[in-house]
Amino acid sequence: MPATVLVGCQWGDEGKGKIVDLLARRHDWVARFSGGPNAGHTVCIGRETFVLHLVPSGILQPKVRCVIGHGVVVDPDHLAAEIEALEDRGVAVRGRLFVSEGAHVLFPYHRWMEALAGQDVRVGTTRRGIGPAYQDKMGRQGIRMVELKDGRRLAEALDRELARVERLHRAAGRPMPEPRRRAVKEWAQRYSRFARALGPGLTDTIALLHEALARGERVLCEGSQGTFLDIDLGTYPFVTSASTAAGGATTGLGLPPRRIDRVIGISKAYATRVGNGPFPTEFGGRFGDAFRKRAMEFGATTGRPRRCGWLDLVMLRAAVRLNGLDEIHLTKLDILSGIPKLRFAVAYRIGRRAVSTPPIDAEEWSRCRPVYEEMAGWSEAIGDVREWKSLPAAARRYVERVSSFVGCPVRLVSVGSKRNAVLRPPR
Ligand code: IMP
Repeated sequence: MPATVLVGCQWGDEGKGKIVDLLARRHDWVARFSGGPNAGHTVCIGRETFVLHLVPSGILQPKVRCVIGHGVVVDPDHLAAEIEALEDRGVAVRGRLFVSEGAHVLFPYHRWMEALAGQDVRVGTTRRGIGPAYQDKMGRQGIRMVELKDGRRLAEALDRELARVERLHRAAGRPMPEPRRRAVKEWAQRYSRFARALGPGLTDTIALLHEALARGERVLCEGSQGTFLDIDLGTYPFVTSASTAAGGATTGLGLPPRRIDRVIGISKAYATRVGNGPFPTEFGGRFGDAFRKRAMEFGATTGRPRRCGWLDLVMLRAAVRLNGLDEIHLTKLDILSGIPKLRFAVAYRIGRRAVSTPPIDAEEWSRCRPVYEEMAGWSEAIGDVREWKSLPAAARRYVERVSSFVGCPVRLVSVGSKRNAVLRPPR
């Protein structure tokens, strides 16, 4: 069976958690391929809200098995707490969650390093140590999950790494947040205990997924963050440190590109961004504040207020191309009710130059002035609408314009946080 990939089309927070939960019913496996505890995927089921950071959102569908692939950086403390919290709420995780032995481990010293290097302030990161964990991976000095299985080997690796971390602190004239020897001893014990608790759940997930596909089982690859936070394809340097676009599913899970036959992109009906970096269509002033409040745009991971703006079709069209999207799912359309005139960016101007694709250079990005197309809005609340033909005509036109501009069909529209708050435009 071929695999499906689901990615965010913007800067993350597009509502992927809810869509994964919906699609998971028709899949046997849901596999995370990149990112770490910086992600926050929210799923509302009945009156309950689940916010997942490392565990794939598919875990909330009882028959689905989940994988954390080697493209993810795993914070064991975070994962242990998340598993426990899910099990406390009646979600069976053990026996259904498989973690790659090849995934790199995110240790507390990665957060220290992030603060030491000032990355958190410069980029406006989630302060979860993501950058330094991926730096260690690329620098070929990272510690992988498989090494947690042997406490003595882990202690040696930790001692080596913490000696380096200690040297860097000394050079910066800063004290180590924890003495090295104590940290080595405590962490080696704690994390090897965690690996033992995972038991057969810590495994070769490449083999697991290939065997599943060979048996005809269906795999959904769950992206985290969004296309424009991708380390290679995003608004560098204001990006995360991982491959968040569709290509990341192949490297982050060990699936060959030919195995993927469907790519779904999730976009909000407007745009948001957390952290620093260019955002040409960002709202200013009071309108922006009021919009954020009614859209409840505050980070699921950090609680930070999200920057909000008009939908940027220049970026969305680029996301269609970069990910090879077969379809778009448009989320939070209900939030646009009551805004008399809606806008979306259809090009940029940089000085006198007209631009129709996102620039490579962050400095150019910050000088982009959007060229807007305007449409009449609609006044009706649409949170309870479940049929395309019951949507106000202006809302239908909005969705159709998005689809025709970017050259990719919108196959699903979400109008609320509940599982069933979706409708499907006609094919
Ligand atoms: P990091 O991933 O913590 O290194 O942060 C790098 C950038 O990505 C910052 O601008 C973060 O706000 C942003 N970011 C990371 N994860 C997410 C997410 O799940 N949603 C939205 N933004 C994110």
